[in-house]
Amino acid sequence: MKLRTLNNLDFKGKTVLLRCDLNVPLNNKGEVSDITKIKRHKITIDELIDKKAKILIISHLGRPKGKEVEELSLNKISDEFVKVMNIKEITVLPFCRPNIIKSVLKEKKEGSITFMENIRFYPEEEENNQNFAKELAAIGDYFINDAFSVSHRKHLSTFSLSKFLPSYLGRSLELELTMLNKINENIDRPVMAIIGGSKISTKINLLSNLVKKVDFLVIGGAMANTFLIEKELNIGNSLVEKDKIDVVKNVLQKAKENNCTVILPKEVVVSKSLNGIENVKNINISEMDNDLAIYDIGEKTIEEICNTAVTCKTIFWNGPLGVYEVPPFDNSTNVIGRTIAILTKGNIVTSVVGGGDTVAALNNAELTGGFSYVSIAGGALVEWLEGKKLPGLQFLENL
Ligand code: ADP
Ligand code: 3PG
Ligand code: MG
Repeated sequence: MKLRTLNNLDFKGKTVLLRCDLNVPLNNKGEVSDITKIKRHKITIDELIDKKAKILIISHLGRPKGKEVEELSLNKISDEFVKVMNIKEITVLPFCRPNIIKSVLKEKKEGSITFMENIRFYPEEEENNQNFAKELAAIGDYFINDAFSVSHRKHLSTFSLSKFLPSYLGRSLELELTMLNKINENIDRPVMAIIGGSKISTKINLLSNLVKKVDFLVIGGAMANTFLIEKELNIGNSLVEKDKIDVVKNVLQKAKENNCTVILPKEVVVSKSLNGIENVKNINISEMDNDLAIYDIGEKTIEEICNTAVTCKTIFWNGPLGVYEVPPFDNSTNVIGRTIAILTKGNIVTSVVGGGDTVAALNNAELTGGFSYVSIAGGALVEWLEGKKLPGLQFLENL
């Protein structure tokens, strides 16, 4: 696959449609709680400003499902964006049709930045509507995809704009692909994959694929609960996808066939609710009560994972191992994160971490700097690792 980079392109006075992933985590007051994603686009945006392009930024925020939802307006992130980019101002357009955007852009100066409103306010985005794609493409001279993390979506702004405009990779996406390819090409064994998070259904294919490739598969987070009920263990009130037991059986069977050791929580951290931290206990899973819920993995399991990590050469991690947003349920994610960072610094392992929440969790503990590579992609990284072709990268193949 040839990377169509920004090298040697002349952008002076040209209008560039730039797909970014500004889908940052927001706290319960609606404020940006992690700016990693914004920072990743700075390298591309600085270059475009330098080359005197007029930039129209296209991004989604959350999942408004084709409706205008005030809490998910890109206005919510504009202040943080301006700070990170170190620029005086940007224009956030109201929710409007492409012809209006076009007329605004005509008046803009070289080096200016304009946001169109959350692309997922437009039902046409997820429908991948071709007429709308044409209308939007008519605003610009170039399309640049800088959002690896959304490239698994076959949406108008990730897939179709490239059909109607000369299209290139932004620097952030270029870096992501270059680094991931490099790591994927020479994986040193033994390999450990750590998969957590809340939803087994979004990571089924990844799990089935990973057991064929890795030596150790650690399952944590709410994902682990379906594995625990498959073993007929009581998980009390914990979050679980009960209808996925067959998937679990299949993953365990494949793991056996491929000599992959699956590590599940034997000790867990439980409480009656997320608010009542005075009731928090570290228990063996066999001591579980019906009125308790699992919010993190426990001490002995953390120790087992760290001891196994020391024997590995490559570690891949996606998904927090507990409800990291509510201390002390961030404990296992922090301790294991710290161990991997130390192993990475000592050149003992190559470590790759990905996922919006995973990166936010490790940022909270100031650990992201300790990993060999930090990807902001969650679902997209998972699909890329499965070997799937990502719709947002398809234009690279049509050369
Ligand atoms: P990423 O964005 O890194 O791919 P996910 O979105 O899959 O990660 O999962 C992150 C979410 O998983 C977090 O909101 C976290 O609170 C939740 N989670 C982790 N462990 C548990 C658990 N034991 N019970 C409920 N939710 C959990
Ligand atoms: C992400 O946060 O992984 C990306 O922004 C994609 O968001 P989505 O899962 O809503 O498509
Ligand atoms: Mg997430």
